[in-house]
Amino acid sequence: MAHADILARLIALRDEIRRHDYLYYVQNRPEVSDSQYDHLFRELVELEQAHPELVTPDSPSQRVGAPPLEALVKVPHEQPMLSLDSIVAQSEVQAFDQRMKRELETPFVEYSAEPKFDGLSVELMYDHGVFTRGATRGDGTTGEDVTVNLRTIRSLPLQLHAQSGLPDHLVVRGEVYMRLDDFQTLNRRIIERGDDAFANPRNAASGSLRQLDSTITATRPLVVTCYEIMSLSKSLPSTHWDELETLALWGLPIPDPARRRLCASIDEVTAFHHETESMRDQLPYEIDGVVVKVNRRDWQDRLGMKSRSPRWAIAYKFTPRKEITIVEKIVVSVGRTGTLTPVALLKPVEVGGVTISRATLHNADEVARKDIRVNDTVKVERAGDVIPAIAERVPVPGEQRSDPFLMPDHCPVCGSSVGREGAYFYCTGQLVCGAQLKGAIEHFASKHALNIEGLGKKTVAQLVDQGLARSLADIYLLTKDDLVKLEGFADRSATLLLKSIAESKAVPMDRFLMGLGIRQVGQHIAKILAREFWSLDEILSADPERLQRIREIGPEISNSLVAYWSEPHNREVIEQLQELGVQIASGAGTGDQMQSPHAGKTFVFTGGLDHFTRDEAQRAVETAGARVASSVSKKTSYVVAGRDPGSKLEQARTLGVTILTEQQFASLIGKGEKGLS
Ligand code: IVH
Repeated sequence: MAHADILARLIALRDEIRRHDYLYYVQNRPEVSDSQYDHLFRELVELEQAHPELVTPDSPSQRVGAPPLEALVKVPHEQPMLSLDSIVAQSEVQAFDQRMKRELETPFVEYSAEPKFDGLSVELMYDHGVFTRGATRGDGTTGEDVTVNLRTIRSLPLQLHAQSGLPDHLVVRGEVYMRLDDFQTLNRRIIERGDDAFANPRNAASGSLRQLDSTITATRPLVVTCYEIMSLSKSLPSTHWDELETLALWGLPIPDPARRRLCASIDEVTAFHHETESMRDQLPYEIDGVVVKVNRRDWQDRLGMKSRSPRWAIAYKFTPRKEITIVEKIVVSVGRTGTLTPVALLKPVEVGGVTISRATLHNADEVARKDIRVNDTVKVERAGDVIPAIAERVPVPGEQRSDPFLMPDHCPVCGSSVGREGAYFYCTGQLVCGAQLKGAIEHFASKHALNIEGLGKKTVAQLVDQGLARSLADIYLLTKDDLVKLEGFADRSATLLLKSIAESKAVPMDRFLMGLGIRQVGQHIAKILAREFWSLDEILSADPERLQRIREIGPEISNSLVAYWSEPHNREVIEQLQELGVQIASGAGTGDQMQSPHAGKTFVFTGGLDHFTRDEAQRAVETAGARVASSVSKKTSYVVAGRDPGSKLEQARTLGVTILTEQQFASLIGKGEKGLS
């Protein structure tokens, strides 16, 4: 072939391929099949290989990448690449509109609204219609030269349409991003290779564009959309809307007309925002709001700019939303109350301006319901300041999933066995577990428990952090020397604390029980238990059936008690406490009540009472230093038989327990004056 013929063929091939690229990547309406396209492309590449001197930078063959770079070179932008002020509330967009009207002294402002693409901003330079340079935004003044990488993006024209009115020099701004489906396919490929997946499409786009080896970029499915002319060698179209249309005429990809709107008022902008937000999940790419721009260019100029953002545009963002990332690991954290919480360790991702690398999975049921496993792709969400959570799993076609997550059967912190309460798992080693120790001691020392004055949060934290308290029992081993070393302690305060620790050694059983912090056993239940049993040992040895015969004690409480006692760590600590001098006064009777003739007696009621409510009867019994039990045993002192007594009366007879009528009970307890007649 003659040289001129070769050149003519090269030009024809390039034009043809460019046209098909434009139809396929920008217009979305291909005219030829993939194989017809490949055929043309191969012919071009072979011809250029035979005649390397005829290769031009705007040839479609250049999209496959260039030799790797040493580093990305910094380049100054021709015009500063500004950022946008962002807002989320409707009231803020109204305020923006008011500001525009005020400054422009006009009652009507027309706005052009378009999607805010969630990718990375680039500067694209065309000289005489040929793409000559492209850079990332960088700090807004200087960016990184990514020209060779940008050339690999098929929707980016390397040559603009030879249209009349093509400027000699043009700088446009656009966004490079990745479609969601392409992102997932890419990540699948990366994972199969054993490499680290990208956390979200934005990171994938950024990582792909900022490559030293553009042949890698060439394999990444990036797209670009242009939305601003930054500099033009001739006069600009008079509105933003026309500016976009002009860019399209030159062959540049612009936001889809169905996704942008010319709005005659701010209310139309708000409506557009809502519409766009509601269909956000149906879009094949991520957007995080709409950009609202004053349409008239002369008004834009009048409004001017602030130091880093234009006054005439605003990013009207959507409510904070979910980001896609990957679960790298699922760990279990133990809270102050012993609850085991599965936590997903994530590939760090930014959600609403905050980088998130952990998200709570709440509990085992939630993990199962959402079916979250290691390596899964998930959406994380952050609403206000709450702990980020995993909203849902994003199924990736063809993915290889790992095994379902299982809760451990031993506490990851202290090795104690794990108990279960519905969906919740908890460490039963409450008195020894490092994760729970601060909480456990604070609770033990609190007012309604052992009431150790001076043993508050700050002191407890120091004791645990400095290793002075490794278990609950250690507080009874503290010396003055230990205490004076703590922050905020002097001789006197140390003495006072030791004194209140010593005083706490004589403790009523209900307070001690409550102080142990057994799940489900608060003040009220502790009182019931203390009333029902005369010693801690009795509780320790009670089986669930026995416990559940007590009014108000159901399976949850009894299971919790049994789990607590069956953890040897807990029993050891209780024994140590007793060895260190803690004396648990049994039953409800303490102090004055111990002097009563009824102290230590047990009453059981059966049948209806005419002159007392059950509560009144119980209070009367307790005031007398005795207690009310709900079941009859050999140890029962009296069974009070009211109207229509139940089987307890029979049991009393069998066991030879003294049986009282309501009247006898009233006079015995000293409540005869209650008007029994
Ligand atoms: S206009 C001077 N239009 O949003 C005006 N920006 O938060 C400059 N962005 O850094 C920006 N879609 O990367 C504009 N349709 C759009 C946009 C858009 C996405 C990005 C842009 C900018 C960021 C500002």
